[in-house]
Amino acid sequence: MSSPVSYSHDGAIAVITVDNPPVNALSQAVRQGLSTAITRFEGDRKAKAAVIVGAGRTFFAGADIKEFGKPIAAPGLPGVVNEIEACSKPVVAALHGTALGGGFEVALGCHYRVAVSSAKVGLPEVNLGILPGAGGTQRAPRIAGVEAAADLITSGRHIGAGEAFELGLIDEVSNETDPTVAGVVFAGLIIGNDMGRRPTRDMNAKLEDARADKELFTRLRAAARKKARGQLSPLVCIDAIEAAVTSRDFDAGLRKERKLFDKLMASDQREALIHAFFGERAVGKVPELAKGKAREVNKIGVIGGGTMGSGITIALLNAGYQVTMVERDDAAIAAGRSRVEATLEGGVARGKMSGEQRDRMLADQFHGTTSMNALATVDLVIEAVFESMDVKKDVFGQLDKICKPGCVLASNTSYLNVNEIAAMTRRPEDVIGMHFFSPANIMRLLEIVVAEKSHPDVVATAFAVARKANKVGIRSGVCDGFIGNRVMGKYLRVSQMLVEDGATPYEVDEAVVGFGYPMGPFSMSDLAGLDIGWATRKRKAATRDPRERYASDWIDRICEQGHYGQKTGRGIYNYPEGARKGEHDPDTLRIIDNVRGEKNITARKFSADQIIERYMAAMINEGAKVLQEGIALRPVDIDMVQLFGYGHPRWRGGPMKYADMQGLNSILASIRKFETEDDWFWKPAQLLVDLVDRGENFDSLNKREIS
Ligand code: CAA
Ligand code: NAI
Repeated sequence: MSSPVSYSHDGAIAVITVDNPPVNALSQAVRQGLSTAITRFEGDRKAKAAVIVGAGRTFFAGADIKEFGKPIAAPGLPGVVNEIEACSKPVVAALHGTALGGGFEVALGCHYRVAVSSAKVGLPEVNLGILPGAGGTQRAPRIAGVEAAADLITSGRHIGAGEAFELGLIDEVSNETDPTVAGVVFAGLIIGNDMGRRPTRDMNAKLEDARADKELFTRLRAAARKKARGQLSPLVCIDAIEAAVTSRDFDAGLRKERKLFDKLMASDQREALIHAFFGERAVGKVPELAKGKAREVNKIGVIGGGTMGSGITIALLNAGYQVTMVERDDAAIAAGRSRVEATLEGGVARGKMSGEQRDRMLADQFHGTTSMNALATVDLVIEAVFESMDVKKDVFGQLDKICKPGCVLASNTSYLNVNEIAAMTRRPEDVIGMHFFSPANIMRLLEIVVAEKSHPDVVATAFAVARKANKVGIRSGVCDGFIGNRVMGKYLRVSQMLVEDGATPYEVDEAVVGFGYPMGPFSMSDLAGLDIGWATRKRKAATRDPRERYASDWIDRICEQGHYGQKTGRGIYNYPEGARKGEHDPDTLRIIDNVRGEKNITARKFSADQIIERYMAAMINEGAKVLQEGIALRPVDIDMVQLFGYGHPRWRGGPMKYADMQGLNSILASIRKFETEDDWFWKPAQLLVDLVDRGENFDSLNKREIS
């Protein structure tokens, strides 16, 4: 097989080009090719300087993540970077696209760096649960200073060429658009001015500054701890950076970096975060995309300007779409418009957009009306009216008459049957669910609910719009609550049971936050409004299965007092004077005690681990049922729904990944244990039982071909 690395000349300059599509990841063949090319350059008397450049869309986007978790074949990247740095003639990195992770570390090992103006650089390894392990934690502080390097490495953020130049991480932002030309011109200057080589390992001035600041690492650790919330890698990154400052010499620092890198590489968090990286990309691969073609979408109608309609409108405006919002009457459309304006205003205040951009967006892209007829020319309609089947059926009946042929008709319903909604039209093949999450302009999850008759083109269109609006589109089949809310229903239920049985709601929330969620289920319920669940429970009371244990009496009683959560100042927590963070409420505990007394329940103590055991088991068991029914395509789809819509900590990878890492045997054993208390709620999913019988895990299902 030919090498992905080629070697050519441009006068006295050697050009080393790496061509490993799609992102020039530093696979074994690339590392070997770079090493060989540097050896050749060393012996090449014609060449006075070398340029390393990436072919195609980008410089190297990092190590080949697919190699992680397996033994890495020689040569290793740190050694290759050292070879480049040790080269006796100057080597220039010419950057374009995204020079990330190991890719940027190669550049830091070069003697000079030039970038085209659109280039981005970064050390995002922290987000994969590791650290820049090819000298990045030793070289970046030497060039940019410890504080700036720590910010870059612990946040993993990508920065533009301009900022990188200001930090000293690149030497020139070129006016050229072709990186090879930029590199060759820059290398010519080096030769012309006899600038020679400049190894990063010999730069020590910035480390001296850090040594003088005795509090520096205490400060950096405190900041990282605050942001990391249970994640290991940011703190270990700081340990590695500290090694640059405290080690005897560069090589000792590198050895320490390697030790810490190996420790992270062996961690569960690394495995989970890499699962999340590939998962985020895998969910976009659904069978309909192979069969269908996205329709062109420029103009979108949004029906309803309430919480969701206004959030969806903002997301679509930000993505550059023309949006027509339709409301019931003048007052409602004025309210919808002012919700949009207020959120955009917040964006202006936070420096996300200028006042001028906002004005232009509202004038050129947004149109508010009370006339459904305005939807005659749109390419896609997203309905976000009240959650009532009658109201939705009426709306879709009208849309069928008004919209042009080929217009995609989507509902943002949270629970309702999209097949039934589609049946209100003469074109059910054009109907689909597009379930956004609140706040819709921020939350990245978009469940794409494929109904029985949805045409593959319509599915492809929904995925294309999701991508353009920077959402993670995830395919779901039709069922009550789709993937996310259906699974959530179970862990909310188990939380309520835990409280009836002896835990306080505050203990449940603390355990869940301790696990890594930003919020516990009861703070979440208070935020969303307790009245929503209360209304649903009342609506479903008549059809509730008699075997189902009802553990919501205590919340119902809170609701009966008119306490619905944050919006009424009281709920499960107390929010004095509009506080956003709730205080524990003794009245809530009294109500719970009373309910236990009436039901003859003797309160038991639950440790945080026991709470999480039940919480996760409920989530996983329902996830398995969602899978066995074909509602979710793969376990990873459920994981990504949890990550992008419900705050599951990314470094745990999602509930199904968590189950695999705990061992499905042990999850099933927990469920069987709980089944002895309540054999209706805790009935194990057949799929889970089968996987355990076969000695397989959920990940084995991720690897299946989807057709
Ligand atoms: N290794 C292997 N595959 C990679 C990869 C990598 N580093 N980066 C991207 N890919 C793959 C993606 O999985 C995707 O594959 P499929 O088409 O099969 O799904 C394909 O390349 C294209 O990627 P995207 O769809 O993400 O393309 P994009 O244009 O939206 O984004 C990107 C490009 C910004 C480079 C993005 O892919 C990205 O952020 N990649 C990861 C960068 C990273 O984290 N680098 C650090 C690696 S760790 C490291 O380097 C350790 C070290 O210190 C030695
Ligand atoms: P909301 O009550 O805030 O807004 C609904 C809006 O629809 C109101 O402004 C109302 O005037 C308007 N409306 C009602 N009938 C109409 C009609 N025939 N024509 C035009 N406008 C009409 O409700 P919300 O929260 O925005 O929910 C809307 C939909 O989104 C529901 O289906 C809900 O289940 C779903 N959803 C809600 C989420 C949430 O967190 N609030 C999350 C995800 C989905």
